[in-house]
Amino acid sequence: MGEKKRIGLLTSGGDCAGLNAAIRAVVLHATGTYGWEVLGIREATNGLMSRPPDTTTFDLENVDRLLVTGGTVLGTTNKGNPFAFPLPDGTTKDLSQDIIDGYHSLGLDALIGIGGDGSLAILRKIAQQGGINLIGIPKTIDNDVGATEVSIGFDTATNIATEALDRLHFTAASHNRVMILEVMGRDAGHIALAAGIAGGADIILIPEIPYQMEKVCDKIRQRQNMGKNFCLVIVSEAVCTTTGDRVTQTRSFGEDRLGGIGQYLAEGIANQTGAETRVTFLGHIQRGGIPSPMDRLLATAFGVAAVDLIAEGKFDRMVAWQNRQVVDVPIEDAINTYRTVDPEETLVKTARGLGICLGD
Ligand code: F6P
Repeated sequence: MGEKKRIGLLTSGGDCAGLNAAIRAVVLHATGTYGWEVLGIREATNGLMSRPPDTTTFDLENVDRLLVTGGTVLGTTNKGNPFAFPLPDGTTKDLSQDIIDGYHSLGLDALIGIGGDGSLAILRKIAQQGGINLIGIPKTIDNDVGATEVSIGFDTATNIATEALDRLHFTAASHNRVMILEVMGRDAGHIALAAGIAGGADIILIPEIPYQMEKVCDKIRQRQNMGKNFCLVIVSEAVCTTTGDRVTQTRSFGEDRLGGIGQYLAEGIANQTGAETRVTFLGHIQRGGIPSPMDRLLATAFGVAAVDLIAEGKFDRMVAWQNRQVVDVPIEDAINTYRTVDPEETLVKTARGLGICLGD
């Protein structure tokens, strides 16, 4: 079994369904199989900046309901890069050494970071600077982490977006309306593409495939001419206007939050086709809720594999899903590739084969 280890575990970046399932798997395998101690670190790297570090001890008893619990019981943050951490007086400070000191003060042998591309890049930089034995687990509803076919949270978000389309279908048909569903995903159109096909959308717009408003309106008119007076449109939040601008709704913590392309399209479509349009902005609904069985499986398999990597002494690795199995890859490979939709990939071909309009 080897020497008894003490490992740290944190969740970082935007939350999603399945994070707690991964926490549970890490705890069950690390404590149950190896007899190690698992310290949960609260609010990502913020917990390691605190003095004393803000942690909680996990054991076999307190992970019971985590398989089905949404969000993250450890808390998280997607703000405040520790290398330029915002201070109350408006200045920024590099707090990376505080995090490193916090890690070493806990006597940790390794750290498992569950995060997306941004978080994993920051964690890796800190780990290299401070001699931290880091293992990454990919999570994000956007499914844009490189070197893995799928990340925790994507399946649940896709299910939610698909269900939204299913619901919109009936009301669209009842009222002869063009229903536009705006979904998340940042610069990757995976959610829109997958949910669009699964939910029977007529038009799918993703950032990777530039659209023409005329093509979108042609599809609506074509359906009208066939006597189908309703239309389902799904659009990714980072799709641009016809002048190439991203649509943002608010600015918080120095960053623009995407949102509003659905409304922009609704006005354009109504003006050009005369169709009655309505917009649904799905927002953070996609991040919440009970994880799907697929996300539970993925999170559980990732959690177990991450612990085994520590047992093998393999660090600076991320667990990944490739060809129906869990593998491990250098974290560097994962963060150096931003995984967007490949316009030649199977699902794009599938959508085209069905006659779904992709706007081009
Ligand atoms: O990266 C996950 C994500 O949900 C994106 O799809 C979205 O653009 C962003 O986070 C929203 O961030 P916040 O929770 O800060 O509004």
